[in-house]
Amino acid sequence: MRSAKSTAERLAAAAPAIADLLAARPALTMHAQDGLCFEDVPLNAIADAHGTPVWVYGAGTLRARYMALAQAFAAAGLTPHIHYAVKANDHLAILSLLRAAGAGADVVSLGEFARAQKAGIPAADIVFSGVGKSRAEMAATLAAGIGQINVESAEELRMLSEIAAGMGRTARIVLRVNPDVDAGTHAKITTGRADNKFGIAAQEIPALYAHAARLPGIEPVGLALHIGSQILSPAPYTAAYAKAAALVRGLRAAGQRVSVLDLGGGLGIGYYDEPGISLAAFAHVVRQQVGDLGVQLLLEPGRYLVGPVGLLLASVTLEKQAGPKRFVVLDAAMNDLIRPALYDSYHGILPVSAVEFVNPASPADVVGPVCETGDTFAAGRLLPSFSEGSRLALLDAGAYSAVMSSPYNARPRAAAVLIDGGKFDLITPRQKLEDLWADERLPNRSE
Ligand code: LLP
Repeated sequence: MRSAKSTAERLAAAAPAIADLLAARPALTMHAQDGLCFEDVPLNAIADAHGTPVWVYGAGTLRARYMALAQAFAAAGLTPHIHYAVKANDHLAILSLLRAAGAGADVVSLGEFARAQKAGIPAADIVFSGVGKSRAEMAATLAAGIGQINVESAEELRMLSEIAAGMGRTARIVLRVNPDVDAGTHAKITTGRADNKFGIAAQEIPALYAHAARLPGIEPVGLALHIGSQILSPAPYTAAYAKAAALVRGLRAAGQRVSVLDLGGGLGIGYYDEPGISLAAFAHVVRQQVGDLGVQLLLEPGRYLVGPVGLLLASVTLEKQAGPKRFVVLDAAMNDLIRPALYDSYHGILPVSAVEFVNPASPADVVGPVCETGDTFAAGRLLPSFSEGSRLALLDAGAYSAVMSSPYNARPRAAAVLIDGGKFDLITPRQKLEDLWADERLPNRSE
């Protein structure tokens, strides 16, 4: 006979307990009086000052992650340029901290390019990726002196040549190879398979590179690749970088100059109880596969740098029992953090109160107030019982979280706070209701 337990209950029983989630995240600590603290700042103090939902970022955690990445490569005898993938979190405060640590930027739109510059990242330290750069974006970034453009197709190469030559400029480009490697990640975020829209097939690279070298306004300097996101094993990188190295050798044998290899991003972090990718193992793969090419290496990490740097602090609006099912309804919703709804992503959830933290837990669906069943942060999650106003932290929400939020259901954008050195600053005020329609106009018809 089947167990009387529901699927949700069985899944919850196998999931990491809240104590394990806490133990795996040293920047988070639980204090008997203050409750959950991030970088030693009580989350209650932040919620008291600025309300919820509120994004909370830790500058110390961000600096430490940047250093760990740079040091893992230094230990392998490599000094890649780190071009932070702005799409993961484009807040000016985050970009400024990364610039101070030494990062350049990887951008995919004129908006990201402008943000990166606004945060103090010079155009020369910015690379422009993306499968559909517009003519206007090409012209504006070239005029500003962009360091590198990652070209994704023959069609794009032709457009860029026309524009650059017309402006009397030379675009430093790399060709993005599609290495046809399955990174084994979520189907919506894998990018390195032949049937994805990204990059140029490996067999087309030699001819296109030679063609690029002859085109006006174009200086090909190397290759780029990016195979996907949230990659936890070095194995797909080994396969992809081996292909890239073979291409570089082939190009050189054909007399081409190759001085840059952009290795992309994709380094995965631990959301559940999986360890994040080993930086030492990743750096080792890079050294082994491409370390002897004598090229300047570039990295484009996003999630690895900022994912664990942020959390979404929310309050419980109410707990609702619907038959056998327990729902915890938050004041945060899918419009704030869409990853669970979009990719079935797991985000750890911790109570902020030390008393609630140790209370007995039972399975609950944690949901937002948006009028869609998909507005569910977690199903069958083992959590203690909450009361109105109890606070919860949704963990690892520094990457692809605030940037993917929307005002759906006319919900104002949440506030954001940055902790640094035991103090916190408001870095985005909560949007006001009237801001929601401030840009809207009624049509001006006379009849
Ligand atoms: N470089 C390129 C060309 C990319 O397309 C991306 C991410 C990155 C670098 C940075 O990848 P990362 O190191 O962050 O994995 N919204 C999804 C993730 C989309 C990633 C898109 N490309 C999510 O929430 O999981």
